[in-house]
Amino acid sequence: MKQILVKASRPYTVTIGQDLLSQLGDTVCAVTHAKKVCIVSDMQVWPLYGETVRKSLEVSGLQVHSFIFPAGESSKNAQNYLELLNFIAENQLSRQDCLVALGGGVVGDLTGFAAATYQRGIPYIQVPTTLLAMVDSSVGGKTGIDLPSGKNLCGAFWQPAAVVCDYTTLNTLPEASFRDGCAEIIKYAILFDPALFATLEQIGKEFDAETVITRCVELKRDIVAQDELDHGSRMLLNLGHTIGHSIEKCSQYSISHGHAVAMGIGIVSEASHCPDASRICQLLAQFQLPSTTDFSSAALFSAAMSDKKQHAGTVQLILPKAIGQCAIVPTPTEQLQAFIEEGL
Ligand code: NAD
Ligand code: GLY
Repeated sequence: MKQILVKASRPYTVTIGQDLLSQLGDTVCAVTHAKKVCIVSDMQVWPLYGETVRKSLEVSGLQVHSFIFPAGESSKNAQNYLELLNFIAENQLSRQDCLVALGGGVVGDLTGFAAATYQRGIPYIQVPTTLLAMVDSSVGGKTGIDLPSGKNLCGAFWQPAAVVCDYTTLNTLPEASFRDGCAEIIKYAILFDPALFATLEQIGKEFDAETVITRCVELKRDIVAQDELDHGSRMLLNLGHTIGHSIEKCSQYSISHGHAVAMGIGIVSEASHCPDASRICQLLAQFQLPSTTDFSSAALFSAAMSDKKQHAGTVQLILPKAIGQCAIVPTPTEQLQAFIEEGL
């Protein structure tokens, strides 16, 4: 088991290990003063792990409610957010009570946003069950929902009280979702860690889960400690995301976040003429991840124009210079379509 302290405005521990779900009640009691807990999960995860989590919380003397919604990105919406708020209000959760996000990034982002805004902020615990959520979305306090105009357009920074990452839950994760997480791991390797990149090249998907999750969380911990509110170095974590979000939107979210990020990473690597572009695309292919898309540069550009990251006619592109070295490059939006075209 590994424990990593995230020194954000409100510090918290990320615990990475096996069979942690049955101890969740102890964690909630250790880091909050909750009497009531609402577990938030989706319809795919809840039947697998809901009872274990519920029992653990009840054994610790907590009153437990559960709010379950359909799995998938289309659930990360305003309607589910408001229904969750109404549900916890009807069940009279107070400011000392707690939400538990049991699921992938969709559950984590929506639960975190509800926690950030209910009674101006209550504690929540991230219990990631996808690889993507373990290595990225559960850590760092970015919460939010999608709007019809684009992804994550409504949200808040709100750090969890703890992150409990039980990687035995990956045993039930569908292969495609596992690859989504691999795309974010490859992102961290390109950004910061040539040794991790080389390890992934050598051993592919057979990597040791605890080692790799721990490494990615350490890298994210360092970035969050430097730039919690995403005004500087944290923007690096958007490698592949500007174009990735456009791809998700153009596909009406039928392409998953992780796969879209993989495509975005491949496209920016080619478009910026990174000398390691072919190595990057090869590693993506080794993980059965795509590195380009059939959507036109015009369609991707149009989708990017509604992305929140374009500001005053400039978009912050994250461009790989080499493995382990990326730069934040402010790019005038009128150059964006030609840039995308270069990478397709
Ligand atoms: P997801 O939450 O939709 O989960 C993918 C699928 O896997 C779902 O169908 C889910 O029900 C299922 N699932 C989850 N855990 C399972 C398990 N252990 N066994 C079986 N099935 C399981 O998708 P995701 O890839 O985890 O997250 C993507 C979301 O995360 C996107 O909305 C993205 O914008 C967001 N995100 C947020 C941040 C952040 O910093 N907040 C970072 C990266 C991504
Ligand atoms: N996943 C991007 C971030 O947390 O900043």
